[in-house]
Amino acid sequence: VSRRALLGGAGAGLAIGAVGAVAGERALAVRRPDGTPDLGTAAVPFHGPHQAGILQPPQACAHLAAFDLAPAAGRDGLRTLLRTWSATAARLAAGGAADGQENQIALDAGPCSLTVTFGFGHSLFDKAGLADRRPEALVPLPAFPGDALDPARSDGDLWVQIGADDALVAFHALRVLQKQAAGLAVPRWQMSGFARTPGATPHPMTGRNLMGQVDGTNNPKPTEADFGAKVFADGPAWLAGGSYAVVRRIRMLLDDWEGLPTDRQERVIGRRKADGAPLSGGADATERTPVDLAATHPDGTLAVAPDAHIRVAAPASNGGAAMLRRGFSYQDGLLADGSPDAGLLFVAFQADPARGFVPVQRRLARGDGLARFLRHEASGLYAVPPGAPEGGYVGQPLLE
Ligand code: HEM
Repeated sequence: VSRRALLGGAGAGLAIGAVGAVAGERALAVRRPDGTPDLGTAAVPFHGPHQAGILQPPQACAHLAAFDLAPAAGRDGLRTLLRTWSATAARLAAGGAADGQENQIALDAGPCSLTVTFGFGHSLFDKAGLADRRPEALVPLPAFPGDALDPARSDGDLWVQIGADDALVAFHALRVLQKQAAGLAVPRWQMSGFARTPGATPHPMTGRNLMGQVDGTNNPKPTEADFGAKVFADGPAWLAGGSYAVVRRIRMLLDDWEGLPTDRQERVIGRRKADGAPLSGGADATERTPVDLAATHPDGTLAVAPDAHIRVAAPASNGGAAMLRRGFSYQDGLLADGSPDAGLLFVAFQADPARGFVPVQRRLARGDGLARFLRHEASGLYAVPPGAPEGGYVGQPLLE
């Protein structure tokens, strides 16, 4: 039964508007006659050359989860699980109901741009008897200065990223996948995040993080010639068109950060807070003005400070290292000392972590002015297989 069918006549009067031909837009933006988007019916196809949940903008609600393969599951169990999970993700992404494990949490909601993305951790390959097919680039991340990682919330055999523009739709997908894992995989950790709700601002712009900064501006763009080379892996054969996801739970020391005056906060990043314009661009600069790392003030000092986050993280400072950042904010209540347990669920997709996250984080951990306001508390690296064709499942070329 299609969940959307349960809406009955509620779809009448909707017109299909701007169809997202450009990657990065919602795949199907349906607008009401008054022009407001109908978030419910927006759908991102599960099947395709790349998994959904990489190129689309971050949805309003997200769950990140890791599972460990059950001891007896082996390669056959893994195949069964990925087949089931893929079929379910495809059905839910199209607005259908979950076979078998339907709990009606998302009853009468459309797909709300639901995406489900699967990744494989280093440890999966040994447990599934596939050690000889583990990609060379899938080596555990090195320890970085300042890391305060909780192993119970790090790593894992299987990684699942769920995003949707409705909280019930997102949780529904998580719950269904969890139940389908019974006997085959055991939940290891789970984190929930959020991003801006589409339509919340009349000025579509890059979203803000919990420090109040416009975050994501200088991401590689799908329209750039080298985008694929930066984001998508070219081998081994079963992973071609896939990617590597680095996941970091980064707590923000918000009480300290919010005590800084705005101009000091802007110096730490190298961009204006109000509009995200680079400090090298002068008063007329906008978020889109290219950063000029060589620009100086009249007194000769650098406009973008030596330890500014955008200088230290830039590809130009790291031998060209680049990645597609697609994180979500999180808040998890209060810590024992009363400070907010909140920050960024950093997710970055790249063709090779050794030419993406690793060199950049090495440099950031030593020389980033932002680092004293951050704590990296959990970490994971996952190979993200390419998308499955219609009728196939994610990971099929590895498992058959
Ligand atoms: C840029 C915030 C962690 C890599 C930026 C920008 C902001 C920001 C506001 C400028 C706008 C933009 O281009 O997106 C943060 C916050 C972090 C964080 C709040 C932690 C909570 C990281 C980490 C990495 C990273 C861990 C990678 C190891 C980058 C890169 C850029 C960037 C590559 C673009 C630099 C450029 O080419 O201009 N970040 N960031 N960031 N960040 Fe971060």
